[in-house]
Amino acid sequence: MLLPIVQYGHPILRKMSEDITKDYENLQKLIADMYETMYKAEGIGIAAPQIGKNIRLFVIDATPCVEDYPEVKDFKRVFINAHIVEKSEATTSTSEGCLSLPGISEEVRRSTSIRIKYLDENFEEHDEVISGYCAIVVQHEYDHLDGKVFVDHLGALKKRLLKGKLNAISSGKAPVRYRVVLP
Ligand code: NI
Repeated sequence: MLLPIVQYGHPILRKMSEDITKDYENLQKLIADMYETMYKAEGIGIAAPQIGKNIRLFVIDATPCVEDYPEVKDFKRVFINAHIVEKSEATTSTSEGCLSLPGISEEVRRSTSIRIKYLDENFEEHDEVISGYCAIVVQHEYDHLDGKVFVDHLGALKKRLLKGKLNAISSGKAPVRYRVVLP
């Protein structure tokens, strides 16, 4: 089932998300719906707040980017109750976009490598170091769980230049090919 995607300016994108338990209602269906919604919108990741739920869940399938970033070859994962425990000091700048901010893409500086603890869709525990473009995508989605979006990382001048576009998104005036939830 396709879910509408919450757009920039909506307060749900600003809330801290909570861990869930194994008996969270219809979790497998929710994961399937998030993948379907993400693929239809041509995204490579989507986090639960973006479909209106403040829970610590995001899904990623970065495999379409394999030509630019060979490390994403098998990078399709579900992250439940994710917590980043370490970030590298080394950073890199990558162009990012977001299904909650259609039409905007900006360079964002993030750690090149992270250590993250999370559960997969079977509630198996993982404690992993993730690097390269995979780490960028994870940090972008993880930000959503903490009430952040990628433009929060931009400087004041850049943000001011984006003001018009951001207002257009929040008021439903930006062109978008999927169903949305406006603030
Ligand atoms: Ni995003």
